[in-house]
Amino acid sequence: MEVVIVADAPAAGVVGADIVSALLTRTPAAVLGLATGSSPLPVYGELIRRSGRGAISFAAATAFLLDEYVGLPPSHPASYRWFIDHELAEPVDLPSERVNGPDGCAADVAAECARYERAIVEAGGVDVQLLGIGADGHIGFNEPGSSLGSRTRIKTLTEQTRRDNARFFDGPDAVPRHVMTQGVGTILDARHLVLVATGAAKAEPVAKAVEGPVTAMVPASALQLHPHVTVVVDEAAAADLRLADYYRETFRSKPPWQQL
Ligand code: F6R
Repeated sequence: MEVVIVADAPAAGVVGADIVSALLTRTPAAVLGLATGSSPLPVYGELIRRSGRGAISFAAATAFLLDEYVGLPPSHPASYRWFIDHELAEPVDLPSERVNGPDGCAADVAAECARYERAIVEAGGVDVQLLGIGADGHIGFNEPGSSLGSRTRIKTLTEQTRRDNARFFDGPDAVPRHVMTQGVGTILDARHLVLVATGAAKAEPVAKAVEGPVTAMVPASALQLHPHVTVVVDEAAAADLRLADYYRETFRSKPPWQQL
């Protein structure tokens, strides 16, 4: 696991965008795994700027969302499909028909989750998966207690996550209780995981995920089991990392041939 500590959220956006840009340059038909929420916004902002000046293109890429609220149609402004369309796909040249997400309005949720798992495999798997982390250590919507081998399925949000996400709705009561989310096992199948965390509220979950024991109580700690993980944090989110100086030194003295 590589931990990259940068000054602030815009700098984290540049590192995340560097990883996605390198992938798109290498593999124009790449499969991207996209997170929603606040954490990836600096990455998306930087990607939009690069796409705008023609430095990168998403025209041949495919994308898979991590999760979706059960009961929200894609036209709902708080749905994750709406979020990705507006925050990334439309401002760049990512074709809408190649943006995939679980159908929040599927009549058969279990069948929809199984279909989504198959779709990811049929696309060849995810090349780079962007992730945020919840205050309780969730990735995707795998709340504490989620099996580290879990696949896409329905989950019940914790009260804390519903409170945290209330800013996208008309208050906490409007936040759906259920979501469909890629499982921890699904996420671990991606070839490169990039977790972006900024701000003091993320310091504790980041430290637990990176330096704590691997446990279902902190689903993000499962990242320790993956061979290629980049954790991009600003100084505030890095505040509780015991090995912060070592991570800084490692990044500073990285051999030039070694990519992120
Ligand atoms: C979103 C997702 C979640 C968020 C996490 C952090 O697709 O899967 O795991 O990444 O809740 O959210 P923010 O970035 O808003 O703090």
